[in-house]
Amino acid sequence: MITILAIESSCDETSASVCRDGRILSNVIATQAVHEQYGGVVPELASRAHMENIVPVVDKALKQAGVTMQELNAVAFTQAPGLIGSLLVGVQFAKSMALALDVPLIAVHHMQAHVLANLIPEENPSFPFLCLTVSGGHTQIVLCESATQMTVLGETIDDAAGEAFDKTAKLLGLPYPGGPLIDKYAQLGNPDRFHFPEPQIPELNFSFSGLKTSILYFLRNAGTSLVYKEEFLKTEEEQKQFIAENLNDICASIQQRIISILLNKLKKAVKETGVKQVCLAGGVSANSGLRKAFVAMGEKHHWKTFIPSFEYCTDNAGMIAITAYHKYLAGEFVSLAVQPSARAEW
Ligand code: KG4
Ligand code: ZN
Repeated sequence: MITILAIESSCDETSASVCRDGRILSNVIATQAVHEQYGGVVPELASRAHMENIVPVVDKALKQAGVTMQELNAVAFTQAPGLIGSLLVGVQFAKSMALALDVPLIAVHHMQAHVLANLIPEENPSFPFLCLTVSGGHTQIVLCESATQMTVLGETIDDAAGEAFDKTAKLLGLPYPGGPLIDKYAQLGNPDRFHFPEPQIPELNFSFSGLKTSILYFLRNAGTSLVYKEEFLKTEEEQKQFIAENLNDICASIQQRIISILLNKLKKAVKETGVKQVCLAGGVSANSGLRKAFVAMGEKHHWKTFIPSFEYCTDNAGMIAITAYHKYLAGEFVSLAVQPSARAEW
């Protein structure tokens, strides 16, 4: 029996999970509400909140799993990428615990863990599979050949998909994080009402910054044009009125474009690799329009599609635990000298 405690602290969720033989026994997540008032994550405040949360969160995860510290065979943590001050809290905690219990330490890459969250449900993909990971910080298409062998086939060259949602929401005057709100209004709107351009980006890479710029001008001139022209500019009052009267259609049209950018590249990846088991991962996979379009595309092209439950899509330690379990089986441990890294190298 292999029992592992995993800790995730890369951004603004403090999370701990216990997994036994690849089965998640607990997945406790403390979300940090402190950032809402600032319209984004404040790194310094995130580190402080992790310090406050980590002991009670780990304690709760062990209790919910019905596991004592003495039963742990390894301690795992997110090593990279993320906010360095946030990562340090989790790394330091995991090191201390591994040292005290005299058990091995396992370092996990956050983006690999998002992909392997797809192995948590009982019905899961076999290798090889493709995964579209869409979160607030990342947008990647990954070819997963085994639990320890993954290749990034394409990624964003500027903003992440979640950022595209959140920045658009900000332009519309919606609070942070705006992704879920755009989803909500989009469900009531007409996605074909406004037309936003699809960028022509080479290979399997993505770009969302051009879309953001066209939305900015579109709103500034109250829907007259997607490019900047002084004579089209409207007063702030007129812009606000335009948004208020057309919010659902604007959200639906923007969301439809973000989804088509994502899924057209995924379709290309399936064509190029011949791999037809396809997964979604990351916080943006909560988007109802994306989920529907993904499943529909899978049915149309005879793919086998997988989406983890919402709890395992946003940042969570369950995905770190499942990844750590496979690393344990492969004998991939790290020394107590290990350091976190803010950067995303694999
Ligand atoms: O994976 P995640 O929880 O955190 C990161 O690692 O970034 O993803 C958070 C992102 C945010 O940008 C949020 O707006 C977006 O996921 N998101 C959504 C939805 N739910 C969360 N975007 C669109 N529609 C949703 N329903
Ligand atoms: Zn994440």
